[in-house]
Amino acid sequence: MKTLITNIKKLVQVGSSPRKWVAGEEMSVLPCFSDAYLLIEGDRIAGFGEMDRLDRSKLEETDFLQEIDASGRLVLPSFCDSHTHLVYAGSREIEYIDKIRGFSYEEIARRGGGILNSARRMRQASEEELYEDAYVRIEEIASLGTGAVEIKSGYGLDTESELKMLRIIRRLKETTPLLIKATFLGAHAVPEEYKGRQTEYVDLIINEMIPAVAAEDLADYIDVFCDKGFFTIEDTDRMLNAGMKYGLRPKIHANELDFSGGVQVGVKYNALSVDHLEYIGEKEIQCLLGSDTMPTVLPGAAFFLNMPCSPVREMIRAGLPVALASDYNPGSSPSGNMKLVMSLGCVNYKMLPEEVINATTLNSAYAMGVEEEVGSITVGKLANFYITKPIPGIEFLPYAYGSNLVDQVFLRGKQL
Ligand code: NIG
Ligand code: FE
Repeated sequence: MKTLITNIKKLVQVGSSPRKWVAGEEMSVLPCFSDAYLLIEGDRIAGFGEMDRLDRSKLEETDFLQEIDASGRLVLPSFCDSHTHLVYAGSREIEYIDKIRGFSYEEIARRGGGILNSARRMRQASEEELYEDAYVRIEEIASLGTGAVEIKSGYGLDTESELKMLRIIRRLKETTPLLIKATFLGAHAVPEEYKGRQTEYVDLIINEMIPAVAAEDLADYIDVFCDKGFFTIEDTDRMLNAGMKYGLRPKIHANELDFSGGVQVGVKYNALSVDHLEYIGEKEIQCLLGSDTMPTVLPGAAFFLNMPCSPVREMIRAGLPVALASDYNPGSSPSGNMKLVMSLGCVNYKMLPEEVINATTLNSAYAMGVEEEVGSITVGKLANFYITKPIPGIEFLPYAYGSNLVDQVFLRGKQL
């Protein structure tokens, strides 16, 4: 089965040679074709180009060919959301009100709210209801243009519940058309029963959880919330070291609440990404330059928690790549809307439309290790893309921040 999309006003983020990521000044370069076509065969991109170069004689008549006229519309590769916690139980709007009343994220965590609140609910919830709730969230983000998503555990905080979360993620991998990666985040917080015994909890993660996760091959990556009031550099060092022995590459929660050293320990262990980065200066930027670690900023969390914005312009000026992700979770970012993430990137971080598109496609694909499969319109990659409503140009996407402009979604070559 072939699908041919014709008369595309602009085909965005096209690429012939595979690119690892775009960094520095290159982040404002977005390769596009005007008046273009896109050809899909099975689940893959089979060709694209300008309309006047479309050779219809090459499209064999025997194959069923569906044709879609995209006049006035743009086609973009699906968003890659490289940082989410979208498997969770219940919601936390009460803490949202506490925040409005002036309590900080750390104060709410100390009062037994925050991650521990979600952990209590996670432990009680059945695998079936957790799966169904997560499935609904996945359907929603898919309709908003996301085609690849990384999902973390980290609300179980005991071996059985962490495994339960990861098994749900595995089931989502099997039952949805999105490209999904799973990250083990046992070190999200110290659970209630280990209060005051943080090192013992770290021992449990190292000696019991990581081997159990690896035995069932449930995770692609390992994460640690390495920050003030959560896990220390020493804890992080030990856990990353243990994870790497089982082939789990790190993706780190770093420098959200302080200059925690999380960036440095992440780079030391060749992390795929270091995420959040509200507190990042010259030292961290220098450490990231020349590494294979993608600095990832989560504008939804900074917006929702009213935190300082990470210095993205300085990072780009220094020559770094930047990825953007949603951090979809019930506490600090209850939305997986990547188009809104682009708008926040533009307004709050002074990123250009071209930069936020690069940051949410190619660069975020790298940040979750799927850059060879998705993240650009490239022959051979998965046909994960969306057709917009009729709009003037790419700038209109982040500009019209409240409108859903995603009209038709294709994942693995099939229209949703
Ligand atoms: O990425 N920073 C740590 N973890 C999450 C928050 C999770 C929660 O509050 O439930 C985050 O923002
Ligand atoms: Fe997070």
